[in-house]
Amino acid sequence: MLVTLFEFVQKITTIELQTATKHKYDYITSIIETHITISYPEEFKFTRQTNCFLNHLAIGLPWATAPQRAAALLELVSKEECVCIDLYCTSPCSSGSCFKEHAVTVHLPKQKPTNPNFSSGPCSKRPGFVLDALKDAALGRSHRSKLGKAKLQEVIDRSRTTLNIPDNYLLGIVPASDTGAVEMALWSLLGARGVDVLAWESFSLGWVTDIQKQLNLDDLRIFEAPYGQLPDLGLADFSRDVVFTWNGTTSGVCVPNGDWIADERQGLTICDATSAIYAMDLPYHKLDVITYSWQKVMGGEAAHGVLILSPRAVQRLESYKPNWPIPKIFRMTKGGKLNSSIFTGATINTPSMLCVEDALDGLRWAETIGGLDALINRSKCNLAVLERWVSNNDNIEFLAEKPETRSNTSVCLKISASWFTKLSAEEQAKAAKKFTSMLEEAGAAFDIGSYRDAPAGIRIWCGATVEAADLEKLLPWLDWGLDQVRRIYA
Ligand SMILES: Cc1ncc(COP(=O)(O)O)c(C=O)c1O
Repeated sequence: MLVTLFEFVQKITTIELQTATKHKYDYITSIIETHITISYPEEFKFTRQTNCFLNHLAIGLPWATAPQRAAALLELVSKEECVCIDLYCTSPCSSGSCFKEHAVTVHLPKQKPTNPNFSSGPCSKRPGFVLDALKDAALGRSHRSKLGKAKLQEVIDRSRTTLNIPDNYLLGIVPASDTGAVEMALWSLLGARGVDVLAWESFSLGWVTDIQKQLNLDDLRIFEAPYGQLPDLGLADFSRDVVFTWNGTTSGVCVPNGDWIADERQGLTICDATSAIYAMDLPYHKLDVITYSWQKVMGGEAAHGVLILSPRAVQRLESYKPNWPIPKIFRMTKGGKLNSSIFTGATINTPSMLCVEDALDGLRWAETIGGLDALINRSKCNLAVLERWVSNNDNIEFLAEKPETRSNTSVCLKISASWFTKLSAEEQAKAAKKFTSMLEEAGAAFDIGSYRDAPAGIRIWCGATVEAADLEKLLPWLDWGLDQVRRIYA
């Protein structure tokens, strides 16, 4: 579609007109900046003439309210081929008569992802999900009723089967999502021996803070690495307890495998696996505590965590009592013995039966598509789509420095174009934000900004609930967005 300034103005002014609102100028500026490429001739003096243009739009014409203008603009730009107004004024004036205008066509990508949800948590619901899938939820029923307990037990059973959990490991549903599950493990198990903690991004650094500043452990060794890297895994000493995150969701860096973990060990391995489980092969015999939450790879509703314990972890629980108080919400033992009911469908406090039903829906879906192998394969194929894009793109790189540590779920990318790397950190953050908000407003991708503590960039969830076809459709939008942002910031 080709739209001249005149048509553009006409289109906007055909909507019901009202007195201009106070913020019209800022509002229209931000919308125009976001959605419309304005290119200027060399001699164009940006500030003055841009203001002139905007004032013509805002004052020289009777304006609708800001939301109405926004609606009209968005309608224009949501067309598959959209507006580029290429204009300039010869001199500032108030009548609009000074406008010289011509228009060029900007091609917006033809198709948008059918499902633009690429958030790294809560993650996209499974393909085909509709609320009706939860119609059998035990709503309004006690979680201790026969029905409620059976549903909780079913989640446990189906999770164990789908994940191939060893028979002698326990799996229970616990409060407060993955954080709850990790905290339960740290507070209940640590302190019996020295602890090594490996950290390379925001969440793992959070566990460092807990162990160091809340539990105040003396015999603590911390191995840290910056975003994009892993610490030297060979430094972990398995005569001690070792705490680590399998996949660093905020850096897109995961451990490549479990080869570095001793089979024979005196300490426990405590693994936050929330962005890895159902998407990566986990060697359970090397892990004593595994935690995750439903909101990640399976696209479940956030609320509850899952805690998996090896026999050695249970043995620790029954033989060691930390010298700090354990809040009820973290307590796994009663009278020195494991509270085994947690692992057979009882819960420490009241669970959401809606979330339980949703977790079941996800598990049933996983079974229909072929179980764990299919889930892992879907995620790897999703990563492959982005790998192809990155390898053909000089402006983008993986944040993960080594391919073998590249996450296939939380794919974190950095903008390596020279126009971007030349910007200050603050400007980079603004440019990256602009990029993600443009894609969001275009309805092409939601929530693909990097995590707040991570370097400015892009993070695209590639877990099993995301369709490779949607990622393919996203790619032209990523190119488009980067080009738009370059025009503003270069
Ligand atoms: C590695 C990791 N650990 C912990 C968490 C916290 O999970 P939750 O919000 O389920 O408690 C997240 C969330 O993204 C995560 O990615």
